[in-house]
Amino acid sequence: MFEFCIELLRSCLENPLLLLGIGTILYLAVLSYLTGEARKLKHIPSAYSNIAAISFIQTWWYFFQGKKLVDASFKKWPRSMFRIQEALGWTVVASDRKVITEVLRLQDISFSANQANEELVQLKHTLGSAILNNPYHLPLLSNRLRRSLAHLVPDVHDEITNAFQTYIPLTEDWTPIKCSSIVPKMVCQASNRIFVGYPLCRNPEFTEFSTRFTFDVFTVAFILRFIPDFLRPLVNQIISTVPNRRRKALKFLGPLLDARRKQNEESNGPGGAEKPDDMITWLMEIAKGEETTNEALTDRLLAINFGAIHTTSVTFTHALYYLAAFPMYAEILREEIDVVVKEHGWTKGGLDQMKRVDSFLKESQRLNPLQNVGLGRVALQDHTFCDGTFVPRGTTVRINIHSPHFDGSLYERPDEFDPLRFIKMQEKTTRNLDLTSTSEEYLGFGHGRHACPGRYLAASELKLMLAYLTAHYDAKFANEGSRPADLWIMTSCMPSYTAEVLFRKRKN
Ligand code: HEM
Repeated sequence: MFEFCIELLRSCLENPLLLLGIGTILYLAVLSYLTGEARKLKHIPSAYSNIAAISFIQTWWYFFQGKKLVDASFKKWPRSMFRIQEALGWTVVASDRKVITEVLRLQDISFSANQANEELVQLKHTLGSAILNNPYHLPLLSNRLRRSLAHLVPDVHDEITNAFQTYIPLTEDWTPIKCSSIVPKMVCQASNRIFVGYPLCRNPEFTEFSTRFTFDVFTVAFILRFIPDFLRPLVNQIISTVPNRRRKALKFLGPLLDARRKQNEESNGPGGAEKPDDMITWLMEIAKGEETTNEALTDRLLAINFGAIHTTSVTFTHALYYLAAFPMYAEILREEIDVVVKEHGWTKGGLDQMKRVDSFLKESQRLNPLQNVGLGRVALQDHTFCDGTFVPRGTTVRINIHSPHFDGSLYERPDEFDPLRFIKMQEKTTRNLDLTSTSEEYLGFGHGRHACPGRYLAASELKLMLAYLTAHYDAKFANEGSRPADLWIMTSCMPSYTAEVLFRKRKN
């Protein structure tokens, strides 16, 4: 936590006016509460006080103790919807299975996921609204990329091998490494093998830039969420490093895009060479009009990077921490990995055979989804849910992801980490339960029409990384047997920022 705050402070110091922005948050948030929409949602229960000043203090408590507050509310109202105050507005939380199903099935014209994402990431001020207004990259992620994984997995494995060798030396003795400072870079490098191709994906400056960009977008979006809408453009202009970084990204990607355009023209001619099979090529093939400029393509690639890096890094680190806390699981995984790699090599076919690795990652994600409350939707019209709860137009509704994930009727001993849980569950059902499958009972990648389209890539990367690590390294915490405490910021769950894992070359 301390180091995270230092990092945030460092961003502030790079631009001191950021501090001014943060200072105004307090004042404006109180103001907003007093004039806010709380009255319209009074009929929905809440653990917050109805006295504005107290409720506001609770919001700040919620900043660090969000999990406890949601857990307490869920315990008190396990079936009914309840409300929590986040930043400037109220969020209504759905925990009941039937209501969750209803939320996920509602049409975009009545409940908008885009509007919730716009607010969450402050897209207008960070990555640009074109990402939502013209999301032409989504089918590329869920179809083209998914299909191409069959032949791209060996490339990603090549990149993962390089990343591991760069960031985790194969030493005979135990070497402590702070994972929060290397995992995002490794994920960035591996993902960009598919997004921008080799050699840019391996350029350390590009990796540093891209991971920093992701962090900055989060920071700026987080601050802006506390600022009333009409002031956001002004505050954004004062505090944000993102527009500068978007321009800087052009230095990396501009020349590459120009070269690709030339290459595409040549390959369209008779006997032309094959185009590289990566996201740049796919985007260029279907982008139209103003989306074809270097600026627009760069923004699109930045947005895809933003969607990929933090999510995959956090998910991988959670799993790595389980492995380091309970090193005996490495043996269970190795029994499978060694056999599969011998037979199939590091291929997509091989990954599909790694059922234990799949189950390990899925179980880790069940216990540690990115958020305990997520999958937001904004009501575009008044609505009454199947449990009778009325929400007026403009209300943000989010789902209590922990509710199904820790439900004892769905998962036996739900609080326990059981790495082979999903293999055992799979034996009893014909439903596909692998890491990329989604359902109302498993929401790590969402479910329904907005389920994560990048999950096929994420799953391949996660499996490659965990399998590569287990096949080549021993890993443990100095203090074996327990994981370091997670870091909760509002509803987001992150693995410890400071924890060090001890690595050495695999001994047996
Ligand atoms: C372990 C890694 C990942 C996790 C846990 C994750 C999780 C999620 C979740 C929970 C959602 C929201 C679904 C909803 O609102 O209903 C989502 C949406 C999305 N994710 Fe991922 N994601 C991951 C990796 C990726 C990657 C690698 C990419 C891109 C290459 C990506 C791109 C997206 C996009 C574009 C959306 C928006 C989809 C839409 O609105 O229709 N994600 N992801």
